[in-house]
Amino acid sequence: MKRMITGLQPSGRITIGNYIGAIRQMINNQDLYESFIFVADMHAITIPQDPEALKKNIRELVALYIACGIDPNKNVIFLQSDNYYHANVSWILECNTPFGVLGRMTQFKDKSKKHQNFMAGLLTYPILMAADILIYDADIVPVGKDQKQHVELARDIAESFNKRYNTEFFKIPEPVISKETSKIGDLIDPTKKMSKSAENKKGVIFLLDSEADIRKKIMGATTDSEMNIKYDVENKPGISSLIAIYHELTGLSIAEIEEKYKGQNYGTFKKDVADVVVNTLIPIQERFNKLVNSKELDDILENGKNKTLEIAKAKYEQIKKIVGLDR
Ligand code: TYM
Repeated sequence: MKRMITGLQPSGRITIGNYIGAIRQMINNQDLYESFIFVADMHAITIPQDPEALKKNIRELVALYIACGIDPNKNVIFLQSDNYYHANVSWILECNTPFGVLGRMTQFKDKSKKHQNFMAGLLTYPILMAADILIYDADIVPVGKDQKQHVELARDIAESFNKRYNTEFFKIPEPVISKETSKIGDLIDPTKKMSKSAENKKGVIFLLDSEADIRKKIMGATTDSEMNIKYDVENKPGISSLIAIYHELTGLSIAEIEEKYKGQNYGTFKKDVADVVVNTLIPIQERFNKLVNSKELDDILENGKNKTLEIAKAKYEQIKKIVGLDR
């Protein structure tokens, strides 16, 4: 069975963009692959985090994974920081990655502008991500479009390492990018992706938002003055993003949605989008509430820790030998 690995950062509360763009792909793949799903908590500290809030976000993310439908019996669920080999392998990769490529990463360019006096980890973060993937000999890495560049870098790092040491040690992973409609825009500025760390929370639907907040945010979403429910990302990003959410959550095609709402006003459509989002999120929230403080969650993480430590230790011992760090 081929192997899949992917994860989300607990750098804030999880959004419906993460759900549609990433978590649902994981769920769709869980019967097809041997799956490793983790919480990229070490990635989260590349930008300043309040320790208490981070701790809470980490636990909530694990509970949300499961509440959304990631089955702990079919996936190995673990915390990145529970597996210290990620950082060890990352260091070896860091010493095998040209400095220049890191500054060219789009996400680094964006985030380094946003955070004054950013730390070195923000620059080297994609190498830790490469370690996350390469340790597990992953065949596929499902991610949203914004992470494609990082998976491609992981491939480049693997290829150049293999070449330098004349080995086939690292498997070359394939990014699997979610389709265009699963990239969800911010509700207030729909040309930007909906992001956990957005400053204006009115544009972001969090999975744990109350029903009233969800409705308020969707009714207040930026649209245009045309009154035409048509999917056109370039010219009508606001309404297109709402259509995308509706399409992803109902399974109706874009053409069917356009036909269904022909001649209708935006208010009617927004109300229906809000209904669909509420109906999706409320059952997830109910499952989440039962899980978040349970011992079951600790057991799942302990199991994930032990399983992945075993795999990662073997890979680490081998890489040490390849680079000459063994005794
Ligand atoms: P992160 O936490 O920024 O995002 C997690 C996943 O959600 C996708 N995503 C979106 N999809 C659709 N619409 C949106 N508005 C939206 N926002 C985010 C992202 O593309 C991603 O798939 N570096 C990664 C975490 C990571 C990782 C890894 C992933 C660390 N190591 C190894 C895969 C394999 C990150 O910051 O994702």
